[in-house]
Amino acid sequence: MNIASPADYRAAARRKLPPFLFHYIDGGSYSERTLRNNTEDFETIALRQLVLRNVSGLDLATNLFGEHLALPVVLAPVGLTGMYARRGEVQAARAAASRGVPFTLSTVSVCPIEEVSPAISRPLWFQLYVLRDRGFMRNVLERAAAAGVTTLVFTVDMPVPGARYRDAHSGMSGPFAPARRIAQAITHPHWAWNVGLRGTPHDLGNVSRYLGKPTGLADYIGWLGANFDPSIAWRDLQWIRDFWKGPIVIKGILDPQDARDAVSFGADGIVVSNHGGRQLDGVLSSARALPAISDAVKGQAKILADSGIRSGLDVVRALALGADAVMIGRSFAYALAAGGERAVANLLDLFAQEMRVAMTLTGASTVAQIGRHNLVG
Ligand code: FNR
Repeated sequence: MNIASPADYRAAARRKLPPFLFHYIDGGSYSERTLRNNTEDFETIALRQLVLRNVSGLDLATNLFGEHLALPVVLAPVGLTGMYARRGEVQAARAAASRGVPFTLSTVSVCPIEEVSPAISRPLWFQLYVLRDRGFMRNVLERAAAAGVTTLVFTVDMPVPGARYRDAHSGMSGPFAPARRIAQAITHPHWAWNVGLRGTPHDLGNVSRYLGKPTGLADYIGWLGANFDPSIAWRDLQWIRDFWKGPIVIKGILDPQDARDAVSFGADGIVVSNHGGRQLDGVLSSARALPAISDAVKGQAKILADSGIRSGLDVVRALALGADAVMIGRSFAYALAAGGERAVANLLDLFAQEMRVAMTLTGASTVAQIGRHNLVG
């Protein structure tokens, strides 16, 4: 099938990936209500068409924390990206750099910071979880700073992992999971050859360097599960604000009060996010949470939004609701699985084209001009 839209990459990824990996990307928590709401709520926002507004000098560029972005899109931290394509984090980061946008490396990436950062021509963003092992947190922050990371994305919506039933059904976890994964790899020879065999080591690169021993996929859930820290509160984070000299973005904000607390903490930015519907099912979609958060903190910190952005039109909708920029997770993971670096670069081109059309037909020539006046109702 020809790729005409970002959504086409989902179908292509489904064909390429062993099911345990496709469903790991695609799935959400519990009954997946929030996952569905995320996309539906963006899609059903009505843009206000305005014609004959002379938008000939259209400009998609923006600036975040002193960094130039060719379009207001950041690749979100996505764990295990190196399992979707060979050394996937490097490929996705290169694609992002080639299109002038940042790539955020997850704590639980396959490729370590030291492999990804030197491979790209712009500063890497790095995502950190709150973990019991503060030694790991310090170690990884020191390594990130040494590798030239600028922006730290601090994810706060995972003090406990939400249950994802699809993972148990697909063979990602649950009984006989390793045997089921091998059986699935055998029936997906393209993936098995390119990623399974030639994409090793399949480590959590950042973690294994700290622990000094390999940590395979099987160890991933165990290590994370043992390390989430439900005792954490804002005051416990002050050392990170003191320690990290660059911008800090707090990811996982859904409530105006939390947004205000993030600003009081000294955050340079927040990500309005429900973790792509992978944590607490039943919480608000980002599209619905965004307006009140924007009312609370717009101008005091940069507002990013993710969870449910599937097109350039959705980017314009998110900006109209109050975001300064968006993050995309699944959209780029599907593209990466379908066609590696080139596909992720093409995905970003598709997003840019869709944004241009939406901006032209809503009468906005710059990202800064997009606001609630571009919406109906
Ligand atoms: C994620 N997300 C995530 N977030 C984070 O802070 N650290 C991580 O390691 C991961 N890992 C991860 C894996 C996969 C497969 C997915 C789909 C998501 C959440 C991610 O950063 C982002 O918030 C959501 O993906 C945004 O929603 P959409 O764009 O996928 O709808």
